[in-house]
Amino acid sequence: MDIELRNRYLFSQKLVKEVGEIALDFYLNRNELKIECKKGDLQDQVSIADKTVEAKIKDALKSHFPQDGFLGEESGAENLAYEYCWVVDPIDGTSSFLYGLNAWCISIAILHKNQIVCGVIFDPVHNELFRAMKGDGAFLNDHPICASSSISLKEGLIGLGVSHRVHPNTFTPVLNHILLDGGIFIRNGSGALMLVYVAAGRLIGYFEPHINAWDVCAAIIIVQEAGGYVNNFLEKDGLLKGNYILGCCTEELFLRLNRIIRVND
Ligand code: IPD
Ligand code: CA
Ligand code: CA
Repeated sequence: MDIELRNRYLFSQKLVKEVGEIALDFYLNRNELKIECKKGDLQDQVSIADKTVEAKIKDALKSHFPQDGFLGEESGAENLAYEYCWVVDPIDGTSSFLYGLNAWCISIAILHKNQIVCGVIFDPVHNELFRAMKGDGAFLNDHPICASSSISLKEGLIGLGVSHRVHPNTFTPVLNHILLDGGIFIRNGSGALMLVYVAAGRLIGYFEPHINAWDVCAAIIIVQEAGGYVNNFLEKDGLLKGNYILGCCTEELFLRLNRIIRVND
């Protein structure tokens, strides 16, 4: 599997940068984009930028790896029982993208026999490519990265995410506990970027009560390879249904936050 996986990993790095240029062009001309809302939810937006980027990724994968499965936010699932599968969010942080807020990225993960084995996340605005392959370490633009050594909420920033897919009660008690524990939070609109910032030592953790596989699969392996701790996201059909996500820089902080997020159990 090694050579087959490494080929895909190298290909994914080239591909994510290529489509990053296309996405950046849309971003710089975002006033011309026609915005649609998904399923009537005014906060869940999509434009031709998301659809074009996903179509380019899917076409490239079809011609280079026709034997692989695919799951993309905009076009759905195909052949997920295949040995290798690609999980793609063409633009994570669509609201930030459309409102000109800079925090968005393209996220591509590779699964081998249902395990996440590679992830690449490209932020074209800041020219930052985060990447990892299982057993090979995590990198930001070719420099190794490492999660922070913080063990308490007082020692750094937590990223929090929430959406209208869940009831506010799954979120607000957690926020309350984090503040009571001396923590403080940010939400930038891109779950993928905030989770990968845990790998880069910029955040000490990230929590969201429900998120989809295309948002986090790539960042999960990058956090793990950077020495961080993440819940078993793919359990309970996480690939198709999504799950909660908790990623932390150290085991101590993971266990502490794991107790806090169980307040609803
Ligand atoms: C969303 C972003 C957001 C998170 C949501 C996601 P999108 O993805 O990652 O930060 O809170 O759960 O759906 O819609 O920008 O691709
Ligand atoms: Ca997303
Ligand atoms: Ca998206």
